Amino acid sequence: MSVLTLLWRLRRYTSAWVGLHRIRNLDLRRQSLEHVVDEVFDFAGGFFEPVQIRSEILEALREVRELRPKYIVEVGTAGGGTLLLWSRVADPEATIVTIDLPGGEFGGGSSYLRVPLFRKLPLPGQTLHLIRGDSHDPKTLELTKTYLQGHSADFLFIDADHTERGVRADYDMYSPLVRAGGMIGFHDIAITRPEYGVRTLWHELKAHHRTRDIVGEPLAYGIGLLYR
Ligand SMILES: C[S@@+](CC[C@H](N)C(=O)[O-])C[C@H]1O[C@@H](n2cnc3c(N)ncnc32)[C@H](O)[C@@H]1O
Repeated sequence: MSVLTLLWRLRRYTSAWVGLHRIRNLDLRRQSLEHVVDEVFDFAGGFFEPVQIRSEILEALREVRELRPKYIVEVGTAGGGTLLLWSRVADPEATIVTIDLPGGEFGGGSSYLRVPLFRKLPLPGQTLHLIRGDSHDPKTLELTKTYLQGHSADFLFIDADHTERGVRADYDMYSPLVRAGGMIGFHDIAITRPEYGVRTLWHELKAHHRTRDIVGEPLAYGIGLLYR
């Protein structure tokens, strides 16, 4: 990494800490969802920018907000962007479990420098559990169940290993945690690149479940929502 990149990162990291009160004040009781999404994308030079298309995540958030989930599991934390957004549409006393494999494919998140900031993201009454590990490791699943304390998840978001094998494993392992009436979100259902296999699994699932495709225009990653 060049000295300039290092300095730029340091500056962005510092401004994230300095401006954190702006994030902590984001609250849908006082602000619109559009405002919250814009703030999260733009904050501190994009420090928490989700790896998402704005229009797609906004529409997904509208649905998750209706559900008002109390128990959320996210596979694929990356820089914390979607984690932060889920926290704002969740129940004010929600439990959120988010999983990432530092150095993992398709990003690499939950660095030691970011974790202390992540801990400040939820609303005051919410509980956040950060798991730094491979979602495909049975121990990660067990830990997730421990954190859910016997409760089913209302919402699961799968956005980690996007290979067909990887996303299938995440679905097979974590979807049984979701209650009937809950929702499962998949990211990148519209991506056709060969290393991405979400689309293949998504087309299979659509044949057997009630689903909704959220696909942006002109740019699309695609979010698939599956209703349990
Ligand atoms: C596309 S990013 C997630 C983006 C995030 N949801 C957002 O929109 O801000 C994918 C993340 O999944 C993680 N990942 C990849 N394979 C994983 C695995 N097997 N277990 C846990 N995390 C994994 C990567 O480290 C990366 O941070």
